[in-house]
Amino acid sequence: NLYHEKHREQIHFSPSSGWMNDPNGMVYYEGEYHLFYQHYPKDNKWGPMHWGHAVSKDMIHWNNLPIALYPDSLGYIFSGSAVIDWKNTSGFAKNNRPAMVAIFTYHNAAEEKKGKKDYQSQGIAYSNDKGRTWTKFKANPVIKNPGISDFRDPKMSWDNIHNQWILALAVQDHTEFWTSKNLKNWEHASDFGKEWGAHGGVWECPDFFPLKVDGTKETKWILLKSINPGAINGGSGTQYFVGDFDGKNFILDEKFKPFVRNNEAVWLDYGRDNYAGVTWSDIPAKDGRRLFIGWMSNWQYAQNVPTAEWRSTSTLPRELVLKSTEAGYRLFTNPVKETALLKEKGDVHKLLTLQEQTLEGALDLTPKPGFTPTLSELNLSFELPEASQNTKFRVELSNDKGESYSVGYDAAANHFFSDRTQSGDLSFSDRFAAKVHPAPRTSRNKTIEMRLFFDVASSELFADKGETVITDIFFPTTDFTHLKLIAEGGKVILKKGSVQQLKSIWK
Ligand code: FRU
Repeated sequence: NLYHEKHREQIHFSPSSGWMNDPNGMVYYEGEYHLFYQHYPKDNKWGPMHWGHAVSKDMIHWNNLPIALYPDSLGYIFSGSAVIDWKNTSGFAKNNRPAMVAIFTYHNAAEEKKGKKDYQSQGIAYSNDKGRTWTKFKANPVIKNPGISDFRDPKMSWDNIHNQWILALAVQDHTEFWTSKNLKNWEHASDFGKEWGAHGGVWECPDFFPLKVDGTKETKWILLKSINPGAINGGSGTQYFVGDFDGKNFILDEKFKPFVRNNEAVWLDYGRDNYAGVTWSDIPAKDGRRLFIGWMSNWQYAQNVPTAEWRSTSTLPRELVLKSTEAGYRLFTNPVKETALLKEKGDVHKLLTLQEQTLEGALDLTPKPGFTPTLSELNLSFELPEASQNTKFRVELSNDKGESYSVGYDAAANHFFSDRTQSGDLSFSDRFAAKVHPAPRTSRNKTIEMRLFFDVASSELFADKGETVITDIFFPTTDFTHLKLIAEGGKVILKKGSVQQLKSIWK
């Protein structure tokens, strides 16, 4: 019963079997979104890394393909990226068709065991058949290790502003920028980050790209930077920086600086399960979106979560939009519009529309037998009456065993929160559900908006049109079958609400 095992996510990508961590090499080419990923096929725990591979026409429905890259004498294949070399700068094109070129980290475990420091280097490989088969470059590595133990996760892209390939590399506590003309010879251009952002752990998996400020002609550069441990709610997480790029140096935006001083950081997601996420390369200009996917887990417990045949899932694909807010530039994250393909159609019971009403206590939303709350999308807008400044409003999933998961908004604290402390199987790690995960609300709109996607084992909250995001996973011992809206400590005015049944992508 592949893809229907206990805890198997129904609207998210996961490998058919074996272990998965970071998404890698995401690139769009000839109608296909490629997703490669850190993969160990022989076990459901991390091991010698391969690049697993799947493709999709819509980022929602996935086809598994054979493993793309296997470890070799230079090492395991760690995280990295891929591009289409449209101008054939590398000379890898064939029959007038551009090559797909991947760059990844070679991790030499044998050298590491010997106590050496230079066991991570960068190698490239190319494909002339839409990523189906790969040839490793014979002169690998293309970036040698200078004697630094954390030297990995190259994310490259074509910089059409400065006409060059650029690459961001994770190096211990900072990011190095490298440039190239041909993808084979790389020059170290600059460093960023030692004195900015969170530093509770090692910096990993950077992404670096220009992005238009929504509604303007202005462009800024974004650096995504995963960190493990040291994230806002514990363990692994992703922070980001906004600034400018002169072709060599990343210059932090002045208004952004106060938010990333003294170990402070700006987080892409306040949940604990969105790590190592990066964006797709080569999205056609006429589309123009900046599309992101993350690994929906956390190194604190990823290898112990209670799934058997496979371990780990990806987040929903998301679009990143840069907005100018009162606090300065901020990334807003929303699920891609293709998530509309998930909607179950044709049955009036599948969509529940709620009229404006004042809530106090619980409203049971489990509408009809046959409705599956853990395969649903909720859109809720609500306001707090003047006298209800202590209201806690939450959406609760629960089962008949008394296990539950809640995600909501706490008016007194002015934060959204995710609570999996009673969510079922917590035994696999004492750090999984030790506390509720808060996410400060930054929007000042009177109307509070929550868009939620529930799957069998995860919740993704996009609040205030993507201004605040919380992604968390959970493992009830039997599926959650009840859905409730609950207002505690005061009232809430539900302005609008809908509950949409979604359908599995694994038929
Ligand atoms: C991040 C990471 C990367 C590394 C990969 C190894 O989760 O640690 O830095 O390349 O996983 O699988």
